[in-house]
Amino acid sequence: MERYVINGGHRLAGEISIQGAKNAVLPVLAASVISGKISTITNIPNLRDVDMMIKILDSLGAKTHTEGGTVTVDSSTIDKVELPEELVREMRSSIIIMGAMLARFGEVKIAFPGGCEIGLRPIDLHLKGLRQMGAIIYEAHGFLDCKTTGLKGCEIQLDYPSVGATENIMLAAVTAEGTTTIINAAREPELIDLQNYLNNAGAKVIGAGSSCITIEGVKELRRCDHTIIPDRIVAGTYMTAAVLTGGELFLKDIITDHILSIIAKLKEAGAIVYANGNSLKIIGPNRPSAIEMLQTLPYPGFPTDMQAQIMTLLTIGNGTSIINETIFENRFKQAEELLRMGANIKTFGKVAVIKGVKELTGAKVSAKDLRGGASLVLAGLIAKGTTEICNIYHINRGYDNMIEILTNLGADIRLEK
Ligand code: EPZ
Repeated sequence: MERYVINGGHRLAGEISIQGAKNAVLPVLAASVISGKISTITNIPNLRDVDMMIKILDSLGAKTHTEGGTVTVDSSTIDKVELPEELVREMRSSIIIMGAMLARFGEVKIAFPGGCEIGLRPIDLHLKGLRQMGAIIYEAHGFLDCKTTGLKGCEIQLDYPSVGATENIMLAAVTAEGTTTIINAAREPELIDLQNYLNNAGAKVIGAGSSCITIEGVKELRRCDHTIIPDRIVAGTYMTAAVLTGGELFLKDIITDHILSIIAKLKEAGAIVYANGNSLKIIGPNRPSAIEMLQTLPYPGFPTDMQAQIMTLLTIGNGTSIINETIFENRFKQAEELLRMGANIKTFGKVAVIKGVKELTGAKVSAKDLRGGASLVLAGLIAKGTTEICNIYHINRGYDNMIEILTNLGADIRLEK
């Protein structure tokens, strides 16, 4: 079984540029269904999840071409309205294709995506919003059969600022009759990127990044080019690696406004940060400080996708830290693996108490989910001795070229087949 093998104890130093954002690419690829024209999307990372979304577009009949970091999608040839169950079950975030398919064809059949390692991942808010717009959705035998004679714009109040639900409703609203207003919308930067793609293609969307997004339906979209924003979670992950190892890292091609909450918490842990608009230098302390309280929250709060990585940092913090994971119900799975490396962590439901120890020791550990897997790589970087991480397919869902990047920064990490 493929695994990462890391010999810890090396200080990271150097310069890296940051890959395109996975959570921006996926909705933009889904949105490319709507136009029935060609979309050329650049700054695409080489990730398992991106490959899955492209496979889904191909399975619908779209013509895609991937070259380097550019994907071209010709959605004029789409001739199916049913998504393959095995692909949807494999990548649950494909659910946002629903809105795009309803906008283009007025119908779609998709397997119920189900949960994943970090939680149940319900889609009730997606379905409630689409139904309010006039979609008739039958849920039976593990499938969602959706049809509409024409979506109508309306005011949709989201019970929770769900990223996926906001994206699904945005996509459905693009060619709906009239105007749709999403209140209590998610404010993540990836929504702004989706808005920019849609408007590049002739849609009329305003307000992404705020809690109120307004979409005025248009007849059709045109071909367009789009460049994906940098991945704020990947940036935060490598910043944490630098802080953990007492290193010094220069990041290029980032948007520092998207990572203000991450910078604030890393500074609380003792890091020194020099940031300007699209680059940043971060210097780690000899030993990280504990963080009294860290709560994961919807953007612009501290991102849940950075929780596991910060937990690793705090395992060697100088004191006791508390993490409250408010977004997902099962996102502390990395804790049991960190305990095997000598961490002192206790969890009580969505609260984790981390008592800093002097050092971690290398061990054989298993990645349980994407960001938890990344947190184990970080732990291996500082652990005394050798750490072996299996089930690294989780990590490859979100991190492009991790081995080469960390090796160039001075880490002793290799892939063993
Ligand atoms: C997106 O997932 C991201 N994925 C996640 O990143 C990220 O953790 C999450 O947003 C929160 O920021 C992609 O963008 C592909 P949500 P999503 O809908 O859209 C509840 C990663 O590591 N909820 O905002 O699924 C849900 O249970 C991944 O890159 C409902 O109750 O997140 C959760 O508690 C992991 N009903 C909360 O909202 C719904 O209909 C946040 O979910 C939808 C969501």
